[in-house]
Amino acid sequence: MLGINKMAGENRTQESAEPLAPVNVPGPETINENYETVGSPLVDNPLVKCRNVNVHYGEKQAIFNVNIDIAKNEVIAMIGPSGCGKSTFLRCINRMNDTIDICRVKGDIELEGQDIYNRSVDAVELRARVGIVFQKPNPFPKSIYENVAYGPRIHGLVNRKSDLDDIVENSLKRAGLWDEVKDDLDSSGTGLSGGQQQRLCIARTIAVSPDIILMDEPCSALDPIATARIEQLIADLSKNYTIAIVTHSMQQAARVSSRTAYFHLGKLIEVGETEVIFTRPLHSLTEAYITGRFG
Ligand SMILES: Nc1ncnc2c1ncn2[C@@H]1O[C@H](COP(=O)(O)OP(=O)(O)OP(=O)(O)O)[C@@H](O)[C@H]1O
Ligand SMILES: [Mg+2]
Repeated sequence: MLGINKMAGENRTQESAEPLAPVNVPGPETINENYETVGSPLVDNPLVKCRNVNVHYGEKQAIFNVNIDIAKNEVIAMIGPSGCGKSTFLRCINRMNDTIDICRVKGDIELEGQDIYNRSVDAVELRARVGIVFQKPNPFPKSIYENVAYGPRIHGLVNRKSDLDDIVENSLKRAGLWDEVKDDLDSSGTGLSGGQQQRLCIARTIAVSPDIILMDEPCSALDPIATARIEQLIADLSKNYTIAIVTHSMQQAARVSSRTAYFHLGKLIEVGETEVIFTRPLHSLTEAYITGRFG
């Protein structure tokens, strides 16, 4: 999507470059608890709407008043220095933080207009609608077939074995793994290579037809070839799915996403078109990060 040779530092030297920071953009010294994100965190067609999201682990606050939308069928990248709250924020969207005793999430998060923290919402069902893929591939210690069939079965999506077979095959095809495993569906998922395991986890996620797929550094345990395959897969999936991906690789964010959100110390500093974030960021903290001055 965006050439990585177009990073912000280079543009700065061109005479035509637009001024970096309009006067109303706060400097780093004014990033207080009531900080308001610059750029365009909200969209016209949100699939996910997050308002005034605050997260605490015990006494310690990890996310401060985050407001952001995720649009239908977009790939949004979440970037920022280690410990800035990217994973914590991602886990708010499928209530994975519920599983951490000391974690408290406040604020409103809606998925297609429905408050996901409402007591009537079943967290297990929600996690089928909001799938998540982690840094380290974590297939179940079951066969390849069972890894993919498990979700549709427990969510009661199919009645007939032949329908389940179809879902398994289609999910593996969409995850780009079918050709490699079609003759070994009964072999253990944990016996695959790291990159294959990650594609199996993606197949498992899409088998239950989620509305959105969250990916938390899905390539950081993979070699460059496996990484390239997953990035291609993200591009293919983005035709039908909404994807929010956390990554430490700015090149990856530039390649796969159309919008990028920059977090810093638990605050959402800036959100914008990926190309703008990487070439003409509004905020000096975003600029410092993308030009490698910290992180
Ligand atoms: N289970 C937990 N218990 C207590 N504190 C936590 C927990 N998980 C995260 N934190 C704290 O919340 C803050 C944000 O952490 P988080 O893991 O969300 O950051 P991150 O941006 O994903 O970092 P990284 O890039 O290293 O993965 C950190 O200060 C971290 O120590
Ligand atoms: Mg993380």
